[in-house]
Amino acid sequence: MNVSPLIHEEEIAEAVAQLGRRLSDEYRDRELTILGVLTGSLIFVADLMRQIEVPHQVGLLQASSYRGTATSPGRLELNLDFLPNLQGRDLLLVDDIFDTGRTITGICEKLKEQQPRSIQVAVLLWKKARTVVETVPDFTCFEIPDQFVVGYGLDYDGLYRHLPYIGVVETDTV
Ligand code: IMP
Ligand code: MG
Repeated sequence: MNVSPLIHEEEIAEAVAQLGRRLSDEYRDRELTILGVLTGSLIFVADLMRQIEVPHQVGLLQASSYRGTATSPGRLELNLDFLPNLQGRDLLLVDDIFDTGRTITGICEKLKEQQPRSIQVAVLLWKKARTVVETVPDFTCFEIPDQFVVGYGLDYDGLYRHLPYIGVVETDTV
């Protein structure tokens, strides 16, 4: 399988630093909790939190979506067991990619039950052409075309998360 580079390591670093500056302004004097969505956001969260200059808590949750058919959306399974108390907190949900948007939208609905003060969403990548939900990410590093990508946390069949750049998978089976 071939992976052809789409976004280079240096471009990612610059975009993450820029987002960190925006978020440092946005969340000054607020009660920020960053929530990373496992497993894809692992590297993005680790890099982003070091670019945010205001004090913040960090929590992790796990989301798995099972792809549905053309007519039925997939089922979303969430594991929220590792979260700190979110009541009254300003939540920033961080994920690798906003594709159809169903995963993030489902997570936001569930998090609202814990009565946070606010919820915003930051993603590294946005496949705008595939998005089917009404609400869109508040912060995006890169908009990308409708191609399957790996690297910097994103996987194909559990592999390629370790690549330091984002690349497009070239195979007949995707
Ligand atoms: P959504 O619910 O359709 O927005 O799906 C989001 C999830 O699908 C992401 O968190 C990823 O795990 C996965 N995903 C969507 N597109 C890609 C891709 O191009 N590469 C790797 N994973 C992807
Ligand atoms: Mg994911």
